[in-house]
Amino acid sequence: MRLADFFDLGARVLRSLDPETAHKITISALKTGLARPLEQTTPSSLATKALGLKFSSPLGLAAGYDKNAEVANGFLRFGVGFVEVGTITLRPQAGNPKPRLFRLASDRAVINRMGFNNKGLHAAAYRLAKRNKVPGIVAANIGPNRDSQDAPADCAQCARTLAPLADFLVVNVSSPNTPGLREMQNAEPLDELVQAVLGARDESGWPTPVVVKIAPDLDPSGCEAIARVVLDRSVDGLVVSNTSTGLRDGLTGTNAGEAGGLSGDPLFALSTQVLADMYRLTEGRVTLIGVGGISSGADAYAKIRAGASLTELYTALVYNGPGLIQRIHNELAELLKQDGFSSVAEAVGTASQPQ
Ligand SMILES: Cc1cc2nc3c(=O)[nH]c(=O)nc-3n(C[C@H](O)[C@H](O)[C@H](O)COP(=O)(O)O)c2cc1C
Repeated sequence: MRLADFFDLGARVLRSLDPETAHKITISALKTGLARPLEQTTPSSLATKALGLKFSSPLGLAAGYDKNAEVANGFLRFGVGFVEVGTITLRPQAGNPKPRLFRLASDRAVINRMGFNNKGLHAAAYRLAKRNKVPGIVAANIGPNRDSQDAPADCAQCARTLAPLADFLVVNVSSPNTPGLREMQNAEPLDELVQAVLGARDESGWPTPVVVKIAPDLDPSGCEAIARVVLDRSVDGLVVSNTSTGLRDGLTGTNAGEAGGLSGDPLFALSTQVLADMYRLTEGRVTLIGVGGISSGADAYAKIRAGASLTELYTALVYNGPGLIQRIHNELAELLKQDGFSSVAEAVGTASQPQ
């Protein structure tokens, strides 16, 4: 049996368990080194530069998988170009009552209302400090606690502590499971938050890039407001996008009625459209990270052509296992070659020209 088949079999077994138990088992296996691939061969044409960093691949692991920064090293061995850990909040919090994670297998989708369950800033900082010498790019995603009285101050403290420990920071204003969080995407609160985080990053003395993660459920004026803040404040980029609170029509899974954020296949078109819009609105001047429904090389390629310099995935790994990463790499390298691109950077935004 090929190793990839072994992991695909493992993914099938895990899918027979309740999803949060399956996730816990996977994290333990990664922590103990039990889940470990053999050789990964990332095609050299996928090596790329973004945010002033050198990536072996433009495909990373999206936030929410490694909420406590416990398995970044373990996951990097599967060949991803980077891992985004978090969301990390200042204080530990339990998240929403279970069940809060639902598979919609027939839709190749997931609905989650986890609510930032995580062990808090200090636990994550300790983990990141411990892994610091291992090669591989790790981003830290930060957000406010549910009961935060001062979200900008709390996020600033996270940024100050994590700037020396992460390769880039992601400010999450787009989880649908923290009441009021998405309102921080509006111009004024976003500007205040971004200034607080950038100020704290500067105080840390580390030039760690800062990007903002946005929702796919934005109207045109919401997109314009975000683009203005990003350009005015010299934010380094955007992650587009988080899960959707909409897109429920046409779902067939028995869990389709659950409250929370939808991810996976049904999110692909909307998140790619918002990505293209943000590329146009930010005039190709900031780094965009495309995420939402990627499950093939063609999907990653479409995000890159829409304007993404980097891409991420989560839900497709639930259904396909980590063998998918090598498959996406091979397909993406082939697509770039077919279209005559010698690098990822050459293909960025070729399907959506800036204004
Ligand atoms: C179970 C689960 C938990 C998530 N937790 C977070 C989180 O803590 N912070 C965050 O920014 N995004 C979180 N996300 C969103 C993902 O990072 C990603 O933006 C989204 O799932 C779309 O990508 P996908 O379709 O490849 O899964 C979570 C997603 C899932 C499925």
